[in-house]
Amino acid sequence: MFGRTSIPWAVAALIAVSACVCTPAPAPGGACAREPVPNVSSSQLPPDVCIPTKFTDVATDYFDDYSWRAFIALVWPASPSRRGDPDAPAKLSGPGPRTFETFKPLWEVFHPDGSPPTPAFDSYDAARYNACGVKAGFDGAVLASFSGLEEVAQFGPGEMLGPLAAQNGKYVRTQTLYNRVAYDYIVSRKLYLRSALPPIPSPRPAEPVVQFPDGSVVVKSAWLDLDGFSAPQKSRYYSRPVTVRDANTGKCSAVTMGLIGLHIVQKTASRPQWIWSTFEHVDDVPPARPGAPGVFALSNGSADPAPPENPLLLVPLAPEPVKPFNVTRSRVSPINPKTAYTNLMYGRQLKGAIWENYQLVMTQWPRVEGEQSVPVPASLSGDASHTFPGLGSASGSAFANLTMETFDQDRPQLGCMNCHNRARLAADFMWSVLDHAYPPNLAPNPSAVSPKH
Ligand code: HEC
Repeated sequence: MFGRTSIPWAVAALIAVSACVCTPAPAPGGACAREPVPNVSSSQLPPDVCIPTKFTDVATDYFDDYSWRAFIALVWPASPSRRGDPDAPAKLSGPGPRTFETFKPLWEVFHPDGSPPTPAFDSYDAARYNACGVKAGFDGAVLASFSGLEEVAQFGPGEMLGPLAAQNGKYVRTQTLYNRVAYDYIVSRKLYLRSALPPIPSPRPAEPVVQFPDGSVVVKSAWLDLDGFSAPQKSRYYSRPVTVRDANTGKCSAVTMGLIGLHIVQKTASRPQWIWSTFEHVDDVPPARPGAPGVFALSNGSADPAPPENPLLLVPLAPEPVKPFNVTRSRVSPINPKTAYTNLMYGRQLKGAIWENYQLVMTQWPRVEGEQSVPVPASLSGDASHTFPGLGSASGSAFANLTMETFDQDRPQLGCMNCHNRARLAADFMWSVLDHAYPPNLAPNPSAVSPKH
């Protein structure tokens, strides 16, 4: 028989479907529904997870429903007039950049000379602050750090690791973006300057020395040049033109990039440790969904194991096309069957939309025993003994995104919150602030550097 941890996705979802009573009642009077009802028609980001009172178990269904609603709101077409807001009257399937893409990317927050970013969230920063010198705008995305390495590196705790190459020999590139609430907080506290980051007093306080306001949302998105993808394959991705800089030649070019991964974190009233949601494209790795081409961005489709360590170096960075390696989802950390079930339910609602090709890999949240609707105090740390998934509960649940934490799949100590917990007291979990505040602290780990360099 199948062990619980080796149930393939489709089987797990089928088991879950047959076990479902499937008569979810709408939430009366704004209370939280006992059984969440998928909703793909709202452009509004849920301000918090909705857990009914007297619920004391592991609240996976409620957090996963929250994550999907947050995803839908963030991939909603963006308002052309107010940056960072959804175009509420538009349809989810409407054209144009998505809401999260109009948030402020790193380069508009952290200038190479430490100068202050424009205080207006709505305006776009000067072209000289990105390494391609491109004037960004509503429709213009640019992936071009001055080192050329930041967008291709994977990250350990506050350090750069080797990159990930896809099967087409292109590097996976990431972009981090802040919403208005988070950006305004960074600007008002001058957190783009290292000298403005408050020191951690001794004895160490229970709560972080900076605390982002509730409603702060930060996303980290993973993109791939779709070069060499067939038309039917391409049509399964949300894609857009992006100005990309080649780290070796410094050359900038416009390429069509597809969204292959998305981290979403939101600071909420009930979870001051943020709620951590992570999505992948379903064609990143096997198994193939029914009707999918069976060709994968990160896997050659074989059962060849993934290398245990990243074989690619960051310094020197091999020129593209790079010899790829096989990426697989670890058999001991598959997508939680409950999450797979929520994915199935949302997938049905999204039938025919491009977003049906994306799946929630995991929601991670701070957890204390007892009534789950009760807010968690900000003094609780985000280490793996206080999270789900976490120590003891991690087996049987994925907690890494294959596009961004490819080699962190099997150790809960390398889960989102446990790693970000190291940035908790100084920067309220936000590694990017600790790394990029001027002068930046962005060094590659020696394991990602050739000894000859
Ligand atoms: C081993 C450490 C590590 C793990 C595991 C990890 N991250 Fe991160 N993450 C980082 C670092 C370091 C950065 C900052 C990168 C930079 O400086 O641009 C970051 C950046 C981010 C950001 C941008 C905001 C910020 O904190 O800077 C988000 C959002 C994020 N990660 C979400 C996640 C999610 C969700 C997971 C789990 C699926 C995860 N991370 C797992 C280290 C980690």
